[in-house]
Amino acid sequence: MQATAEAHPNIALVKYWGKRDVARNLPAVSSLSVTLDTLRTRMTVEFGSGERDALSVNGQAAPAMLGRVSRCLDSVAGNDRPAARVTSDSNFPIGAGLASSASAFAALVVAADAASGKAHDRLALARLAGAASGSAARSLYGGLVELDAGAEQIELVQLAAADDWPLRVVVAITDERTKPVASGDGMIRSAGTSPFYSSWLAQQEDDLSTARDAVRDRDFERLAEVAEHNCLKMHSVMWTSRPPIVYWNSATLACMEAVRELRAGGHAVCFTIDAGPQVKAVCLPASVEAVSAALAATPGVVDLLTTGVGRGARLVDQ
Ligand code: DP6
Repeated sequence: MQATAEAHPNIALVKYWGKRDVARNLPAVSSLSVTLDTLRTRMTVEFGSGERDALSVNGQAAPAMLGRVSRCLDSVAGNDRPAARVTSDSNFPIGAGLASSASAFAALVVAADAASGKAHDRLALARLAGAASGSAARSLYGGLVELDAGAEQIELVQLAAADDWPLRVVVAITDERTKPVASGDGMIRSAGTSPFYSSWLAQQEDDLSTARDAVRDRDFERLAEVAEHNCLKMHSVMWTSRPPIVYWNSATLACMEAVRELRAGGHAVCFTIDAGPQVKAVCLPASVEAVSAALAATPGVVDLLTTGVGRGARLVDQ
């Protein structure tokens, strides 16, 4: 009745922004991501331990997030399940645009599945995680992952395993506070108000096909170009929403500039930015030291995290 699972966040190189079905949390666009290592969320689920569900996040009761967690537990273990005690622990800032909901819900479905003895397969678990948080579906898989928005349900495919392409990701933290607009709320706002939203949807398949080919050919330059373009398009949709959604600060821009200079100087590196002010610099191993040094020297960077490519969510011994 108890199990512990671990999952890593993932960052999208071709982004998910928009829902085609809000109630089922189905994405309006397909996406492509890289699962990180080093950063992780560990989740323990214990069924039958009390009258009501209880959630603790990094040692503190977290009632605000309990509803979402309880609904996810119902979807994995059934509505007639016993109450659960859920304990979550992350080794990086949560709610700050570092995809903590991805690692959290990916770990949650794996732990809940084992603790309830349901034995769903991986794709079923990815779909259940995705219903809780769209990006979480991708963290069920390691390496480079494509999420196809599908006709009825999402589909997932691993394009390259964690060891197949040893990319590095240097995360420049510029502000550890919780983001001002939750991604899900932001997506709904963008769909309803941004004049660029329809072009965003229309162009996504082209970006995905370019990125998929670049991963297949291990063509970093091609992947870098489409990833930056896709990231800037997503942020253009955010900026042109009403009211605007602006996650960047001045250090975010300074980091983007630093990455551009590195690339102009011959380094294989590109930036990507999610629903927060942190900049993720994706690079080949030969450039990781130069990238880290440049970002560490960029004004406004408060911390750097360096990761490689990680594995999918899995059970761990307690
Ligand atoms: C900008 O997966 O957090 O990081 O489905 O509403 O939980 P919900 O959204 P979420 O959105 C992630 C948005 C993004 C881009 C991406 O990861 O693809």
